[in-house]
Amino acid sequence: MQVPAARGNNDIPAFGSPVRAAFALERDYAHLNHGSYGATPVSVLADQRVWQDRLEREPSRFMDREFRPGLRAAAAALAPRIGADADGIAMVENATGAVNAVLRGLDLAPGSNILVTDQTYPAVRNTADYVASRCGAKVRALSLPFPASDTDDILQRFKAALNPAPALVILDHVTSPTALVLPVAEMAKAAREAGALVLIDGAHAPGMLALDISSLDCDWYTGNCHKWMFAAKGCAFLWTAPEHRASTHPLVISHGYSDGYIDEFDWVGTRDASAQLSLPAALSFMDAYGTDNIRRHNTELANRAANLLAAAWNTERGSGQALTGSMATIRLPDGLGDSQQDADALRADLVDHDRIQVPIRYMAGNLWCRISAQIYNDVTEYEKLAQAIKRKSEGKT
Ligand SMILES: Cc1ncc(COP(=O)(O)O)c(C=O)c1O
Repeated sequence: MQVPAARGNNDIPAFGSPVRAAFALERDYAHLNHGSYGATPVSVLADQRVWQDRLEREPSRFMDREFRPGLRAAAAALAPRIGADADGIAMVENATGAVNAVLRGLDLAPGSNILVTDQTYPAVRNTADYVASRCGAKVRALSLPFPASDTDDILQRFKAALNPAPALVILDHVTSPTALVLPVAEMAKAAREAGALVLIDGAHAPGMLALDISSLDCDWYTGNCHKWMFAAKGCAFLWTAPEHRASTHPLVISHGYSDGYIDEFDWVGTRDASAQLSLPAALSFMDAYGTDNIRRHNTELANRAANLLAAAWNTERGSGQALTGSMATIRLPDGLGDSQQDADALRADLVDHDRIQVPIRYMAGNLWCRISAQIYNDVTEYEKLAQAIKRKSEGKT
């Protein structure tokens, strides 16, 4: 694998700008939004291309003999990194699809309820609404505190919301709008004790957090590998607890129907699964830099950037606690708008005039940005954001 020449203290490549060359990202541009779509290293894209070429050289032989073993090899390589058994890991294209597969296969009784939060990912909330509307169930959204001072408060509110008992609880491991790492272990345990099924949407968790699904009291866990595990777009997984494997089906029913969980998910019609097949290359990329080193670097950089921005703008962070993940939300200074439309316009202005990519949302009466920290980022990029926003808040362009 190709790694940049610059070296850090531990004989691993130095993080920050020296690592930028390992990615296809535009130069002279502050990519502070790894969270939305990830960024795939060029070495992984090259491996993905190799899989596509293998398929095109002899399509029938590839699909007959190499496709499914390749998917199973990807699942086997992933299993120890997420603390799950490979037999429970279905490779899917994205977390949205996994959530759809679970929810649309459930038999919910009329009058039952699905518990989500007001920070549940909007596409997942739509899925819950759709499924509930078709069977006469209800979706209840627990309001999470934001800014959040601590996770105990979240847990207490969640426990109170378990009465009346939901049929299903959907928990975001890392919330998308606010970048909070929820105490999913405790939440899932409480939900199970209340008799609910538990689906954890860990779209951001693999690669960002030390993940051990076997220690979580959940029925399903989905995560994206194309965000923080450096996989190509279209690489995610759905882990299903053994007792639900026979009754959990992919969205597309195909040849594998009733042949078992893995066969059903592996074959959902002819497709290009090269993003999933090249997952081992993405994991090798992580190994070359050290998974723990990456996580440590990203968490430290996110904390440092969040403090730097809150101090520059004289505002506050969305999480009162030291971060454990690689994203953070910070309140923008006053005077930049008071609607999601203003937030969208400001984000576009940063893209077009300042070459900075960062999501901005109108939440809790203010504009907030969500920063990501990845190995190709360095602190000067957050300083650039700090100055650009400051200038705009002072009425300068
Ligand atoms: C919590 C959460 N769930 C689901 C998704 C959807 O991911 P995908 O578009 O890969 O399905 C995201 C994407 O950011 C997310 O943050």
